[in-house]
Amino acid sequence: MPKAIVVTENGGPEVLALAEVDAKTPGPDEVLVRVAAAGVNYIDTYQRSGAYKVPLPFVPGKEGAGTVEAVGSSVTGIAVGDRVAWAQGNDSYAEQVVLPAAWAAPVPAGVNDHDAAAALLQGLTAHYLVASTYPVQEGDTVLVHAAAGGVGLLLVQLAKARGARVIGTVSTGEKEQLAREAGADEVIRYTSEDFVARTKEITDGAGVAAVYDGVGASTFDGDLQVLRQRGVLALFGASSGPVGPFDPQRLNAAGSVFLTRPTLAHYLATPEENAWRIGEIFDAIVAGALKLRIGGQYPLADARTAHEDLEGRRTTGKLLLIP
Ligand SMILES: NC(=O)c1ccc[n+]([C@@H]2O[C@H](COP(=O)([O-])OP(=O)(O)OC[C@H]3O[C@@H](n4cnc5c(N)ncnc54)[C@H](OP(=O)(O)O)[C@@H]3O)[C@@H](O)[C@H]2O)c1
Repeated sequence: MPKAIVVTENGGPEVLALAEVDAKTPGPDEVLVRVAAAGVNYIDTYQRSGAYKVPLPFVPGKEGAGTVEAVGSSVTGIAVGDRVAWAQGNDSYAEQVVLPAAWAAPVPAGVNDHDAAAALLQGLTAHYLVASTYPVQEGDTVLVHAAAGGVGLLLVQLAKARGARVIGTVSTGEKEQLAREAGADEVIRYTSEDFVARTKEITDGAGVAAVYDGVGASTFDGDLQVLRQRGVLALFGASSGPVGPFDPQRLNAAGSVFLTRPTLAHYLATPEENAWRIGEIFDAIVAGALKLRIGGQYPLADARTAHEDLEGRRTTGKLLLIP
């Protein structure tokens, strides 16, 4: 029987337990994939803890890459033996996964399985944030929080590619180095420096066109102080905890700024949009224009350690689980 990480009760990383699960068969519109690597994402921790509700028991993991072992009767365009990657699957912390064929993206020959598993969820997120939520314009100055994280390193690169001046925040010297290598023009150690004062100083008081914030509770108030008039706060996550109740009048006081709380699924709204973003991410990787950093690889059975490291702020770039 195949193995998977099964969550039977919500809680800390210790609830991630390896177990045998029933072998799967794809439905008419589905494919069965042998998982080469599963991506670890912050959303997996929210689902594990119960901050995001998922019916129990469940196998975590939205993302992965692997080789198709069986296809449903209605599936066209994907065959047994094809390599695919996905960012919107469920049950990916597993040796085998069944997912809708529509979510299985063919992996280009120039991208290996581990990079494919590392590319999509965080890559598509960075893509929609800089291309669509607030489309970065040449010459903009933007602020990227947790700039050495999984989404962060990709955001820095994609914002730079669009001509921005990028300010990144990080907690350590190692992370500062990585953010600079990704292209950040300025890096603020927001655990020891006041990022509001430093951002104002760097922008000569003008503020930034956009803040891309996946950190949430600890940065939100400061974000409102560093936006330029009519700037955009893209609050896309909560690694430090969720932002509490909020008076919209504060957006006025901050300079008629815009606040949005976007999520990936709404930016992959049509097959065309999905194909466009995936194409741009894989093309950039193949061309060497977008560098992936796999900051940690763990055996599937060690999913607990991966979550402890991610929530313990000890990681950089992408974490993978290898079945
Ligand atoms: N809305 C969407 O569509 C979408 C999609 C993907 C991800 N996300 C969100 O994006 C964020 C980043 O996800 P990721 O998977 O790439 O994770 P990550 O950025 O690799 O890891 C989280 C980082 O947040 C920073 N952080 C600041 N305060 C923290 C705290 N109290 N505890 C833990 N970490 C803290 C840490 O960087 P420093 O040590 O440098 O501070 C840490 O490394 C998450 O909030 C996630 O939910 C949203």
